[in-house]
Amino acid sequence: MVIKSVNLETVCGITSRLPEHEKPEVAFAGKSNVGKSSLINGLMNRKSYARISATPGKTQTINFYNINDAMYLVDLPGYGYAKVSEKEKIQWGKLVERYLHGSPRLKAVFLLIDIRHVPSANDRMMYEWILDKGFQPIMILTKLDKLKRSQVQKQIKVVKEGLDLVPGTKVIPFSSVTKQGRDEIWEVIEACTEL
Ligand code: GTP
Ligand code: MG
Repeated sequence: MVIKSVNLETVCGITSRLPEHEKPEVAFAGKSNVGKSSLINGLMNRKSYARISATPGKTQTINFYNINDAMYLVDLPGYGYAKVSEKEKIQWGKLVERYLHGSPRLKAVFLLIDIRHVPSANDRMMYEWILDKGFQPIMILTKLDKLKRSQVQKQIKVVKEGLDLVPGTKVIPFSSVTKQGRDEIWEVIEACTEL
């Protein structure tokens, strides 16, 4: 994908309406701090257009990035951040549910897992939830640069087993530092949005 324009067009909170438009969307889910916003910046060739933070829980809204006026990359709020109140957890659930259930133009959901970690109970819940909504999540294993190359295959196996992935699920290791994996992710996005 040649990036000609990017625009954070809609920021959707608990009380906002979801945007109405005709363009395809792909969404990125995952634990707080896993690297969703960094991945979106990497895909857009922007350093810090999507806000990134060392503090988890930065993105608490659903952010719609319009790419080339042709499609949207959708940054979902992260889960599993310990310092979030019960009320905020419920609001997160309602917001994400409304989006996953209610967006007719959502073509694919990517689920991000830190390549160094064993999937958590929250990751498993999110995986099942995405499946329940009728999507087969595409796995992105983030922070690839932090792992020795010799460990990559082993960690892919840990994630496959930890989430009991549906056979044939795509698993793409990615680093927002080296951009390794970026082209493959765009290929998948282009295929499922028919761009
Ligand atoms: P929330 O908005 O809290 O849900 O987090 P997020 O998933 O959007 O994570 P974000 O992109 O803000 O990244 C969190 C931290 O991880 C930041 O300090 C990033 O610089 C760092 N990070 C993200 N991706 C990578 C990566 O591929 N490699 C390395 N080394 N650091 C990364
Ligand atoms: Mg974020």
